[in-house]
Amino acid sequence: MFPFMAQGHIIPFLALAFQLEKTNKYTITFVNTKKNINKLRSSLPPNSSFNLVEIPFNSSDHNLPPDTENTDSIPYNLVPILVEATLSFKPHFRKLVSDLVSEQNGQKKPLGIITGIFFGWCAEIAHEFGVFHALFIAGGGFGFACYYSMWLNLPHQNTASDEFLLPDFPEASRIHVTQLTDYLRVADGSDSFSVLMQKVLTSWKNVDGILVNTVEELDKIGLMYFRRQICPQVWSIGPLLLSTGSKDRAGKQLGISSQVSMEIIENAIKDEKNYKGSSTKAMDEFFNAAFTMRKWSTLG
Ligand SMILES: *[C@@H]1O[C@H](CO)[C@@H](O)[C@H](O)[C@H]1NC(C)=O
Ligand SMILES: *[C@@H]1O[C@H](CO)[C@@H](O)[C@H](O)[C@H]1NC(C)=O
Repeated sequence: MFPFMAQGHIIPFLALAFQLEKTNKYTITFVNTKKNINKLRSSLPPNSSFNLVEIPFNSSDHNLPPDTENTDSIPYNLVPILVEATLSFKPHFRKLVSDLVSEQNGQKKPLGIITGIFFGWCAEIAHEFGVFHALFIAGGGFGFACYYSMWLNLPHQNTASDEFLLPDFPEASRIHVTQLTDYLRVADGSDSFSVLMQKVLTSWKNVDGILVNTVEELDKIGLMYFRRQICPQVWSIGPLLLSTGSKDRAGKQLGISSQVSMEIIENAIKDEKNYKGSSTKAMDEFFNAAFTMRKWSTLG
């Protein structure tokens, strides 16, 4: 598992990792830069089974302030530079995957690699070694579908109006320019951040599937967009909770407060003998897809 270096990305990855750890079936390797790994190590329970692996990074080499390895230690205007700097991970990540694959003489290569939204380029490296790769979208499907479509199409640049449709996502209906982040509003496709984002997001096309921290029943339009525009294998496995009892917070994150929606959420994550909710089933399907790929790649 390899999240982008921001707390809002690392925390849901951790929730996913804990959920997988509970099954007692998988060894989890968590990859990040040194400072983030150290922070993680100090917050994990002493009996944690995670392998923590550092990927080399020196922020000073990337025009970032010294020792900054997380969005929480840099001002907002430097976030694009941090995203760009992550492209320097490529050779290190390749070596890491290569080492994992050759451990135990290649008898037991990783079942899968799960990376954050800016790390779609990892798919190409995973495939080089015949390893399954999925992205994990730590937030809801609809918002990220809009975000993805906005960056790739920059529709606000083609109209004088303050409101516009997304060309490949008309189901989202009208977006108002004030709903865009500052970066998106000024993006025109030629500035360096647009060029970077278009490159980074286009690499999603190579992934084997996408995990989304959402609930199928409540996020149909967003999930449909990803299945149509990027890849058919999209698994809504949320909401992932760091602890039980944080369902109210999960509901708030999804913008949900009604009782009906809370019932849908509770149903989605049920895992009982005679009943599996949609998120539980999606997680099973994700593992089936990974095991299927391993079987085929082993057959050569
Ligand atoms: C660690 O210990 C806690 C408390 O005993 C337990 O609930 C949890 O399942 C353990 N985790 C692992 C990975 O063994
Ligand atoms: C990072 O690079 C700078 C400049 O090259 C160097 O001074 C510093 O010691 C390096 N930091 C680490 C942790 O290696």
